[in-house]
Amino acid sequence: MAVTSIQSRTTGYVPELDQAERASRDEIMALQTRRLAWSLQHAYDNVAHYRKSFDAAGIHPYDFKQLSDLARFPFTVKTDLRDNYPFNMFAVPRERLVRIHASSGTTGKPIVVGYTQGDIDIWADVMARSIRAAGGRTGMLMHNAYGYGLFTGGLGAHYGAEKLGCTVVPVSGGMTERQVQLINDFKPDIITVTPSYMLAILDEFKKQRLDPRKSSLKFGIFGAEPWTNAMRTEIEHAFDMDATDIYGLSEVMGPGVAQECVETKDGLHIWEDHFYPEVIDPETGKVLSDGEKGELVFTSLTKEGFPIIRYRTRDLTRLLPGTARPGMRRMEKVTGRSDDMIILRGVNVFPTQIEEALLATDWCGGHFIIELTREGRMDEMTVLAEARHEHWDGSGLEAQAEKVAVFIKNTIGISTQIKVVAPDTLERSLGKAKRVYDKRPKG
Ligand code: DLL
Repeated sequence: MAVTSIQSRTTGYVPELDQAERASRDEIMALQTRRLAWSLQHAYDNVAHYRKSFDAAGIHPYDFKQLSDLARFPFTVKTDLRDNYPFNMFAVPRERLVRIHASSGTTGKPIVVGYTQGDIDIWADVMARSIRAAGGRTGMLMHNAYGYGLFTGGLGAHYGAEKLGCTVVPVSGGMTERQVQLINDFKPDIITVTPSYMLAILDEFKKQRLDPRKSSLKFGIFGAEPWTNAMRTEIEHAFDMDATDIYGLSEVMGPGVAQECVETKDGLHIWEDHFYPEVIDPETGKVLSDGEKGELVFTSLTKEGFPIIRYRTRDLTRLLPGTARPGMRRMEKVTGRSDDMIILRGVNVFPTQIEEALLATDWCGGHFIIELTREGRMDEMTVLAEARHEHWDGSGLEAQAEKVAVFIKNTIGISTQIKVVAPDTLERSLGKAKRVYDKRPKG
């Protein structure tokens, strides 16, 4: 049966879904065809980069007649955005922009994105829709621990929550002790934060001898980095809450491009009335069929300030049919970025696979890092995994560590060394976790 309305677990109130959330697949596709034609023309007319790249590919927005024609248009990649730093990808005069965000980018120039008032309104709409899909309702209190500033997480979630009619606590990331104090005193229903920082908040609850299951939190909206269903179980159990996944990226908008629905928790519905997804073979660039795994590519359908055409996200996933929102496709949880993939002696491995193996134990709560080193000509991988307080006896838990190494060898096919470290020894992230430390000599 198609699910067109959702019952709140807490209030029994059934909210109205947006029209697009109730639309059929055919209606969504018709809308996308109209909007794509506009977006391609808008980019071509107003951004020199797109005019040049379409011309070079011998394609014109007039050639777009149906959705499959999009595959004839050139991709946009991160270096295109870097090369046009800071403002050359904007499609409107800078004066018409009301906001700018930028990716933090650890090296080189950041990616700069801009929003008109209309873009901000749409962003707030899709973000409000995301919070509601996660279980949030008008009148709830939302503790927003995504970073405020150039990062899109904080302000993106903030405007969406206001639009839905929530009371927002704009805590931003960091000062973990205060996070816990405010959660206890203000009693929020919703928390928005990266999953790795949620674990740091959990540790702080325990440090203050507070029972996280007794906290007021009912709904967690976690994203900005890859995380596993094993981590979901860990967080849901620890806080007695519903945890859902939120996806987005600055180049496409920020958080709220796709969101998991709390009633199904089966991957993220892409808000396809504003963002058109494709999955391609990362090697050949060929568009893959729904269900096949590859690199996610997005085209914006309604953005004025910073239209983005066929942007290669480097995120790996597959497209699946809609469930809780039947007209809009889902994307499977992102297991990793092609950039995060470790190739160890010819075998591909993602940090999320290590996370899954560690969370299958009872002694590790999900804090870990991966170190890559080189011994002679051989690459070595060492996982430093933190023990839970209640399991740490100072011994290094060697037998348990060995079991995980054997499990990883048998399932992923790589030899790793697992080193169990004492509780509270690994550095905590305030936002996105850094999992991989590559100490191999360069070159
Ligand atoms: O991380 C936007 C965001 C903020 C999303 C808050 C969700 C919540 P960027 O800093 O531009 O934007 O980073 C985008 O983060 O290409 C993915 O690699 C990764 N990412 C974002 N959400 C998820 C997720 C924000 N749910 C990059 N699962 C993306 C896995 C994610 N990876």
